[in-house]
Amino acid sequence: MDGFSAKVLAWYRGHGRHDLPWQGADPYARWLAEVMLQQTTVTAVVPYYRRFMSAFPSVQALARASLDDVLALWSGLGYYARARNLHAAARLLAMRDAGDFPRTADEWAALPGIGASTAAAIVAFAFGVPAAILDANVRRVLSRYHGVRGPDAQAERLLWAHARAHTPMHDVAAYTQAIMDLGALLCRKAPECARCPLAADCAFDGKDAPRQRPPKPERAVYMAVIAEPGRGVLLVRRPPRGVWGGLWSLPESTALAALPAVVEGLGFEGALGPSYPAVRHVFTHFRLSITPVRVACLSRGRGLAEGCDMMWYKGGTPGPGMPAPVRRLVNQFLEAS
Ligand code: ADE
Repeated sequence: MDGFSAKVLAWYRGHGRHDLPWQGADPYARWLAEVMLQQTTVTAVVPYYRRFMSAFPSVQALARASLDDVLALWSGLGYYARARNLHAAARLLAMRDAGDFPRTADEWAALPGIGASTAAAIVAFAFGVPAAILDANVRRVLSRYHGVRGPDAQAERLLWAHARAHTPMHDVAAYTQAIMDLGALLCRKAPECARCPLAADCAFDGKDAPRQRPPKPERAVYMAVIAEPGRGVLLVRRPPRGVWGGLWSLPESTALAALPAVVEGLGFEGALGPSYPAVRHVFTHFRLSITPVRVACLSRGRGLAEGCDMMWYKGGTPGPGMPAPVRRLVNQFLEAS
């Protein structure tokens, strides 16, 4: 074990996180936790993880579930492609004997939605396989410690080489949690170098390499709030791919003038009512502004059958899988009416 790893492990014993609900759990639980923890904090993940594990305690239970039920439990956690990939991967894994999980990072990385770092974390945690991880936290620790300036392909190669060199042959599960915790708890954007076990040899000069982030494009949509007394608010299912794929949402259009035609497409005759203040939501690649618009339903028109792609929602939990900002809008509307 090199000096770096020994110091990180010693720090972890006294200061790391030892009571996360997935620690010591089976490979299925570790996989679920690592997928939920992609781009999401531990605090946000814990309640979702607990609910998900009690609904789907095994890979077989998850494989048997409908995508709708999976999305309903993911609702609010964001990045829904993770839930769709998790469900697809569960169906592949469930073809194996119960309890027989892949034991190499390459096999995990061949499943939908599992990148190299997540695959390595799963086998390191579940089987103690010495596989190197490089998630956002670890990337920050290693680029500061080794003075790697990026982002470019050469910096990426160098960071993976450092990650592999520091990964010990023993105590891999503890080391993997330790280096994640060091990044999450000390080596944050504003780091606490005075408490860091690596400070004496660290190359960090207080200035991170600039992150080349182009400004996010802006998109705007208008969402129709159609409510009928006693039935609630009309929801439609979004297409399976793309933003919020497969989730339930309000009928929408990118142009206000086109909203009545969208409503007519659902079998109603609608008249535009008042608009409400826009709600903003930030995605990885763009910003979305949502303007809710009340649409009065004049007649049921030809009337589409309620069923697979359309439903009335009256509130209550857990409800169908809805994007968090849409759920908030709909609930505000239901509370006010
Ligand atoms: N982020 C990603 N994986 C994690 C884990 N296992 N514990 C804490 N934070 C994480």
